[in-house]
Amino acid sequence: MQGSANLNLMIKAARKAGRSLVKDFREVENLQVSAKGPGDFVSRADREAERIIKEELRGARPSYGWLGEETGEEAGEDPTRRWIVDPLDGTTNFLHGLPHWAVSIALEHKGEIVSAVVFDAAKDELYWAEKGSGAFMNEMRLRVSGRNRMIESIFATGVPFGGRSTLPATLQDLARLMPVCAGVRRFGAASLDLAYVAAGKYEGYWERGIKAWDMAAGLLLVKEAGGFVGPVREGRDIFETGSVIAANGELFEPLCKVLRAE
Ligand code: IPD
Repeated sequence: MQGSANLNLMIKAARKAGRSLVKDFREVENLQVSAKGPGDFVSRADREAERIIKEELRGARPSYGWLGEETGEEAGEDPTRRWIVDPLDGTTNFLHGLPHWAVSIALEHKGEIVSAVVFDAAKDELYWAEKGSGAFMNEMRLRVSGRNRMIESIFATGVPFGGRSTLPATLQDLARLMPVCAGVRRFGAASLDLAYVAAGKYEGYWERGIKAWDMAAGLLLVKEAGGFVGPVREGRDIFETGSVIAANGELFEPLCKVLRAE
């Protein structure tokens, strides 16, 4: 694997956190699912994973800023660079013993994501990309799919839970999209949804109301695999609105058209 020093650092941190999560995941599978026990257990697991990643990354690059799901935002001496980290994307899957969750680490430079790692530790699949150098899964080069007909294509999304305000719009999206495509999947880890678009498994993905740490790394994977990304509302910032559309080059515009229809 040929990457920059920063990418190698990110991979090392993701693998270390992944090992800790896999160990915890074996135990969570054996726990009785009750509201309190495993919930607390999972938050311990992701706090520990974030601690590991932070120690590696901030230890090696103390001047970079930080945005992590568990510990929030910290400015660094270098205002142009920051790490954007979700130590455990797909927490609900993890809690239910479903092996579909990932560590997501992105490096932002001057407002742009330049390096990305999404590590599916349960399957030992490491997705990575650097701006201008392509996207990979382990040693394999990734390419978005070449399908160009909506009716033969599948798309992934996340359906907001717990009565979030983005639920009605998402249900409307589904009502518009499902009749014109081959299927919609909801696997529960945005970083992996984007990695699967990069790998050509899904033709596209969209979601409303997610956080920068859920998607930062995945967005670069899609772009470096030849895909397109944009906001759900034209002209808006993806991170600010938390709403995103990603797809292969053939279907990006058709997907936008369906999802942006008033
Ligand atoms: C969640 C997952 C899920 C998406 C949610 C996210 P988390 O991240 O990415 O797929 O639908 O919006 O919050 O909480 O498991 O890190």
